[in-house]
Amino acid sequence: MSSFSSEIESIDISGISSSVEDAVLTRHSIRDYEPRAIEASVLKDLFSKSLRSPSWKNSQPWKVHVVSGAKKDKLANLMTERAKEDSAPVPDTIWPSGFPSDAKKRMFDLGMKIYGAAGIERKDKEARDKFMLRNFEFFGAPTGVFITTEFELNFYIALDIGCYLNTIMLLARSYGLGSVPQAALSAFPEVVRKELGLSDSEKVVCGLSLGYPKADSNLNRFHTPREEISNLVKFYE
Ligand SMILES: Cc1cc2nc3c(=O)[nH]c(=O)nc-3n(C[C@H](O)[C@H](O)[C@H](O)COP(=O)(O)O)c2cc1C
Repeated sequence: MSSFSSEIESIDISGISSSVEDAVLTRHSIRDYEPRAIEASVLKDLFSKSLRSPSWKNSQPWKVHVVSGAKKDKLANLMTERAKEDSAPVPDTIWPSGFPSDAKKRMFDLGMKIYGAAGIERKDKEARDKFMLRNFEFFGAPTGVFITTEFELNFYIALDIGCYLNTIMLLARSYGLGSVPQAALSAFPEVVRKELGLSDSEKVVCGLSLGYPKADSNLNRFHTPREEISNLVKFYE
């Protein structure tokens, strides 16, 4: 079990979480996967349970597209080719741009640590761009997930879908699966809609890669730090 710390931590992610607490404390983004397919029964079980996630007045705004095998490979190729043509995202949703300075520091720090774990020099733009493209290959995961909605896009829909993503990610830990939520997978929604045969009314909100983590990968052992509790949480009585 890991502990909260501002130091770089490295934890073993190969285990299976048997409690919510363990899932919360050991989940982190996995960016290097075994090619091993996820059993169809596991996917069905996981996504069936995931629908227990809460939403505004139980409106359940999500549509969930779980893509594996040849379909996943094809989408990976199409998105990668699209990003190579022009990497500027054209998402259905508005991506955030401005951030407070303390958040900017955390984001910079994350970039440094991820590139460090991937063995990439900060100055090596070519290697950074290549690593960015790994997003569209689902970081080698056997399964990709696209969360779409036909609801009007607004703040509370985003909250509902954020809750839903976290439900998937925590449940995944109870099957020994790893995951990474990816805004990048919503960068080219036209490609996703065309390949999955979705109507224009289905907006791609976010994506996620899912699979068995490569246990010996530096990228996967890296456990992202968190702020000290006193900086973010206040207790009142
Ligand atoms: C809404 C959302 C979008 C994200 N998009 C990406 C992404 O496109 N690519 C990526 O590698 N990580 C992405 N992440 C993962 C974050 O970088 C990661 O959750 C954060 O650094 C905390 O690390 P942890 O997940 O390892 O605890 C995203 C996370 C969230 C919640």
